[in-house]
Amino acid sequence: MATEARLLLLLFLTAAASAWEMNIRLPTERLAYGGGEAVVAPLIHALRPLLGFGGQLAARAGVACDSWRLAVEAHNVFGWKKVPASCEGYVGHYMLGGHYHRDSPSSSTRPSPTLKLAGNGKEIWVFDIDETSLSNLPYFAKHGFRTTLYNDTCFREYVAEGSTLALPETRRLYRRLLQLGVKPVFLTSRTEDERNITVTNLRRQGYSGWMKLLLKPAVHTAGELLGSAVAFKSGERQKLEDAGFTIVGNIGDQWSDILGAPEGARTFKLPDPLYYIG
Ligand SMILES: *[C@@H]1O[C@H](CO)[C@@H](O)[C@H](O)[C@H]1NC(C)=O
Ligand SMILES: *[C@@H]1O[C@H](CO)[C@@H](O)[C@H](O)[C@H]1NC(C)=O
Repeated sequence: MATEARLLLLLFLTAAASAWEMNIRLPTERLAYGGGEAVVAPLIHALRPLLGFGGQLAARAGVACDSWRLAVEAHNVFGWKKVPASCEGYVGHYMLGGHYHRDSPSSSTRPSPTLKLAGNGKEIWVFDIDETSLSNLPYFAKHGFRTTLYNDTCFREYVAEGSTLALPETRRLYRRLLQLGVKPVFLTSRTEDERNITVTNLRRQGYSGWMKLLLKPAVHTAGELLGSAVAFKSGERQKLEDAGFTIVGNIGDQWSDILGAPEGARTFKLPDPLYYIG
């Protein structure tokens, strides 16, 4: 009896402890998910109603859409132009419901203890921008989570507002690396004409102290040639290595961010069910 009572008490305490843990963890998660900033959180929150009855839709369409998303991430489907219409709710909930953030690099890219640094001031970490350092989720949420055809003009207008949000997990990694003496380099398919607004947007979202911001030289054109992102990005990484820097890490949401030598000592692929850039 006494043993049973102790067991019950233990079970009760364990349950209470995990409830307590959940209670203290939840607000943090909400904060991180909302960008950790009061200005950002209401915006994400405001996007949720756009999903309407998406919860039920997502549940119904769940399995097939789940497979579709995996196939996209693994690059088993490619050349697609739209997210299947039946998956709008699923993708929306994936992006806004916390799953996307849990799949982001907060745990997998924690730089220590596996990262061995020389601390010679020549170590850099390459960050992609869109859907890596900054998130265009407000845009995509307003445009059906890519269930409609991509409109480059419309998207560039949104980028020009400089109002994209930080991905909190990436920003955390970025700041940690700065503390460790690793210099951040942004490498993006955004173009030189977008430099000023990109700088403004990065600063607004709490990024500072980067070593370089590398953008594509030409004015952005829709329908870029396949492979051009890989060629541009690997070329820029080569120039950095030629200048004596060591790329200790490289993170992006596209395969074209992390393929093509020199890739960097460690590469990280973030989730992105919204678009694919070759
Ligand atoms: C794309 O967006 C622009 C700017 O918002 C708009 O003027 C144009 O009609 C759109 N094009 C298509 C094909 O929807
Ligand atoms: C970008 O900012 C710089 C410095 O603030 C300014 O001199 C330049 O004219 C700006 N370029 C554009 C395209 O707005």
